[in-house]
Amino acid sequence: MANQEDNLLKNVISHSKEYGFIFQSSEIYDGLSAVYDYGQNGAELKNNIKEYWWKFMTMMHENIVGIDSAIFMHPTVWKASGHVDAFNDPMVDNKDSKKRYRADVLVEDAIAKIQDKIDKEVEKAAKRFETFDKAMFLSTNGRVVEYQKKIDEANTRMKDALGSSNMEAMKQLIVDMEITDPVSGTKNWTDVRQFNLMFSTEMGSVAEDTNKIYLRPETAQGIFVNFLNVQKTGRMKIPFGIAQIGKAFRNEIVARQFIFRMREFEQMEMQFFVKPGEEMKWYEFWKAKRMKWHQTLGLGAENYRFHDHLNLAHYANAACDIQFNFPMGFKELEGIHSRTDFDLKSHEKFSGKKLQYFDSEENQNYIPYVVETSVGLDRLFLSILSKSYTEEKLEDGSERVVLRIPPALAPHKVAILPLMKKDGLAEKAEAIFNDLKFDFRCFYEDKDNIGKRYRRMDAIGTPYCITVDHQTLQDDTVTIRVRDTMKQERIAIHAIKSVIQDSVSMAALLKKI
Ligand code: GAP
Repeated sequence: MANQEDNLLKNVISHSKEYGFIFQSSEIYDGLSAVYDYGQNGAELKNNIKEYWWKFMTMMHENIVGIDSAIFMHPTVWKASGHVDAFNDPMVDNKDSKKRYRADVLVEDAIAKIQDKIDKEVEKAAKRFETFDKAMFLSTNGRVVEYQKKIDEANTRMKDALGSSNMEAMKQLIVDMEITDPVSGTKNWTDVRQFNLMFSTEMGSVAEDTNKIYLRPETAQGIFVNFLNVQKTGRMKIPFGIAQIGKAFRNEIVARQFIFRMREFEQMEMQFFVKPGEEMKWYEFWKAKRMKWHQTLGLGAENYRFHDHLNLAHYANAACDIQFNFPMGFKELEGIHSRTDFDLKSHEKFSGKKLQYFDSEENQNYIPYVVETSVGLDRLFLSILSKSYTEEKLEDGSERVVLRIPPALAPHKVAILPLMKKDGLAEKAEAIFNDLKFDFRCFYEDKDNIGKRYRRMDAIGTPYCITVDHQTLQDDTVTIRVRDTMKQERIAIHAIKSVIQDSVSMAALLKKI
């Protein structure tokens, strides 16, 4: 990671702690690795992100409903889903640094470095020639063709090795690509081994009753096993979707980069049930919809891109990620998968219960195909926080840190600040607070000078500050300060709601999608 990006992540982490967004779990006991708690401002932001997703999925689509299934599920669920046998990561250790890596990530990083070389060659050539044919250059330039061959070969070998669980072949690929450990700089690798990522525990208080169960590694299976319950009770007709927000747990061996890869995290998943043969149409539909949803946040369309999966999961016939430009570079934010009928078919087999849909138009029963959209809530939180975090030098030479969080998602929409506590200003401010609190999440503060209070509101991303001063007592006007521009203007108290309503409203944000 380049230094500047490294610093950005460090600054975001310390800012999150200082301003009550995210704390290390069990911090007074020195923390628990890759587990985090959301503080008073973090919980508000997280809830607003959930609302943005939930409302978009369930309110904006009349054929999608939401459920809330349990974290614990019958252990056979995970046998049927393939997680007991196949939810593994290939791991490798460097013997000198004692650091542990995911073998596939090491290979992908090495491939990305070769791709960078190609991109640089293209950039150089494009500058050199007035008319530049990129496709021609890629297929004829000797060096570039050689690089591309290396990439293709590495991808094929990795796909074969992972597909057949051949860990020796995976190790050989690391050796042949001459991959070095970024910490020790050596190529002294152990063998590659498979690790299952599911946490398990026991259910039942009496020893002989105990039964090994798992903490769900994805929320999707709670949707699959309820497919018929929802379809029948909701009288749903295909195509239709079931959405869910909930915790998931993975014993990530290499957990790092703050809340990007956690052991306990939250997913927002939607399974869209379609007629077999129509899945690719819906796959494209959801790719476009989900990208639009992300970009509507206004963090910069250039910070999102699609990344097609070369190594498909055991359940998918097409899959891609929406990647986001995190401080560590472009990484997966959301997965969109065409999961075929794998899950429902497998649950039918393992449970012995029919999980079929009767299509009255076709007059036939079938197991629907599924297109899934799955976004990590914590990753989304990190994407918003890291792009919103801005350090600014002001004209008067001072500095401020401002979180330019999309206003509809900001923890507080408006701060009510009496210039001073005395002369009845506090009472007037409280009255305004008590009027606005039914419509907006408000913040009240009367300590410290007004400049310091503005800075604190900037630092937690509050889009508006209302200041109550002596003139307020005479003419019922206040100053309203806008977070992003720091501009202030005087408005009537009765106009506050209408001035801020549109820009902080979830409905207005949803209408833009
Ligand atoms: N049901 C499909 C599924 O779980 P996934 O790609 O493994 O697919 C979906 O996970 C999303 O969940 C990812 O795109 C990511 O945003 C989030 N996610 C996965 N593992 C995570 C982790 N360890 N920490 C935080 N978020 C994670």
